[in-house]
Amino acid sequence: MAARPIIIDCDPGLDDAVALLLAFASPEELDLLGITCVAGNVPLDRTERNARIIRALAWRDDVPVYAGCPRPMLRPLHAAERVHGKSGLDGYDWDEPSAPLADGHAVDFIVDTCLAADDRSITLCPIGPLTNVALAIVKEPGILPKIAEIAFMGGAATIPGNVTPAAEFNIHADPHAARIVLESGVKLTMFGLDVTHQAITTPDRMAAIRDIGGPISEAVTGMLTFYDRHDIERYGAPGGPLHDPCVIAYLLQPDLFGGKDCHVAVETESETTIGQTVADWWGVTGKDANCRVINRIDADGFYALIVERLKRL
Ligand code: BDR
Ligand code: CA
Repeated sequence: MAARPIIIDCDPGLDDAVALLLAFASPEELDLLGITCVAGNVPLDRTERNARIIRALAWRDDVPVYAGCPRPMLRPLHAAERVHGKSGLDGYDWDEPSAPLADGHAVDFIVDTCLAADDRSITLCPIGPLTNVALAIVKEPGILPKIAEIAFMGGAATIPGNVTPAAEFNIHADPHAARIVLESGVKLTMFGLDVTHQAITTPDRMAAIRDIGGPISEAVTGMLTFYDRHDIERYGAPGGPLHDPCVIAYLLQPDLFGGKDCHVAVETESETTIGQTVADWWGVTGKDANCRVINRIDADGFYALIVERLKRL
């Protein structure tokens, strides 16, 4: 089967970095057309630099990296440096990337790539705030029929948020963008905290990544050791949740995941619950489902896939 054409829209970010590596390691299944960056975990000048760092680590400077929106649509950027470090990629001593950004804006790259593609052929993988993707939809609604699926990391359908009691970071960062995406009518698959909080970097799983050996394993071990400390403190968990790689793992091995189709709305007004993803789990509103909400994962299978793919790089 031909590799599936995808665009990863990201804000690296330590877990974004692992998601990128997973995609770079899987060219047989995934045709990574480009990486688009957005402000999120850290400001845009750092997310685009970090995407280029990870691209260089994987020896994949052939994949273009575009810079996109430097801030959410209506709200100021509240970065997550306490989780990902000041650089957004703390935990390893990186060389400066030598290959530059691609010319042009990320939103235009998404629009142009989709318009040039066959109907329902492009899969968008947003793993940061949804600003770039929403703006592409607003700028050129003609891209909608070209999109096969938007598989995104964000939200929390049945459990509390991680940045406020109600909201998950990516959706809270730009709830207005999230609303545009959720109301787009495109096939949507949501990887929220319901599933990602089951994908924990336990000591055994970390050891398996460390045991791969070599520069990629060293870099990932360094990043995840830095990343884990936050979640171990906050959740008393044995490790941190690898949120963003869930999206890429699903494209590679969908049978690792399970979920339910339901209607998901985003709160954009309330001071207390802004950014909450309100999932109609039991169909009480009678509204048609607009999203598949993933809430189950074979976590051991997920980590086995990560280890197997990192070995290939
Ligand atoms: C999401 O927020 C970011 O900090 C992570 O990279 C992930 O995309 C988890 O809430
Ligand atoms: Ca992210």
